[in-house]
Amino acid sequence: MTEILCPDPAGNARAALLLQQGGLVALPTETVYGLGADARNSAAVARIYEAKGRPSFNPLIIHVADVAQARRYARWSDLAQNLADGFWPGPLTLVLPLTSHHGLSSLVTAGLDSVAIRVPAHPTARAILERFGGPVAAPSANPSGKISATTAAHVRNGLDGRIDAIVDDGPCAVGLESTIIGLTARQPLLLRAGGVSVEAIEARLGSALDSANGADIIAPGQLASHYAPHASVRLNATKAEPDEVMLGFADIAGDISLSTTGNLTEAAACLFDRLHELDALRKPIAVAPIPNHGLGRAINDRLRRAAAPR
Ligand code: TXA
Ligand code: MG
Repeated sequence: MTEILCPDPAGNARAALLLQQGGLVALPTETVYGLGADARNSAAVARIYEAKGRPSFNPLIIHVADVAQARRYARWSDLAQNLADGFWPGPLTLVLPLTSHHGLSSLVTAGLDSVAIRVPAHPTARAILERFGGPVAAPSANPSGKISATTAAHVRNGLDGRIDAIVDDGPCAVGLESTIIGLTARQPLLLRAGGVSVEAIEARLGSALDSANGADIIAPGQLASHYAPHASVRLNATKAEPDEVMLGFADIAGDISLSTTGNLTEAAACLFDRLHELDALRKPIAVAPIPNHGLGRAINDRLRRAAAPR
């Protein structure tokens, strides 16, 4: 039985209690719904992999309430402080060296000597994290390889009966996962494009970001095929073939559109929702071209993985 909880003090307290007891709780964040478990409890974290059917070499992001908590787990630096000052709480994940006394399950770090960590901005996520008081490991709350969940209904469709609870707080505002920046090498590295634009991070750093080269998969979640609908996906389409359904953008109309005005923030916020809607029709999906700047870069990253051969 999966409990549906309200994002009120009673629901948040129940969610925190379930986490303390080693339960699995799907939580709203500003990016996507996360499937949370106590990051120090290996049995709880193992259940995340089991519920998602996720390949176990993928390390997980931990979510904490503030920088003070982050510093218990991650070795802090001026660069980390600069990015945290600029973008936390918010859709930015930092990969940092682990502290010696971190106490995290090795299933969270997948045996690496670094940890991915973020302070989410969503008020309900924050309330639950504060109440729980520890680190919450939370990948996106969808079966492995499938479209990320941006509503409680998406979570329920994918994971009902496999997890203890879902805190239903409506749709996620950003709609794309967090941007991941690696801070373990000499230069900051872009490991995943996401909810904070690369341009905004470069402006804060005052320098251009290097991208992780696909050859050494440093962020293992970056598998070629991911976010996959059941049917095939064709990108950069200007019109649908007879058997296809079309996802439009700007002046390219479709059966539905990511944004008829060409607004990338709006498109990011509804991307996974539109993919879930078209996926339900079980027809091949044609997708209009999306400009590759700002949040468009993260949108195109997700679309390429949705379209990749499986
Ligand atoms: O917005 C988000 O980030 C969402 C919400 C729930 O917070 N979470 C999310 O988690 O997208 P997940 O598990 O689906 O993605 C985790 C990503 C993967 O690409 C993984 O490889 C990378 O983080 N990652 C985790 N730990 C890492 C590490 N130590 N070094 C490099 N990459 C790491
Ligand atoms: Mg995911």
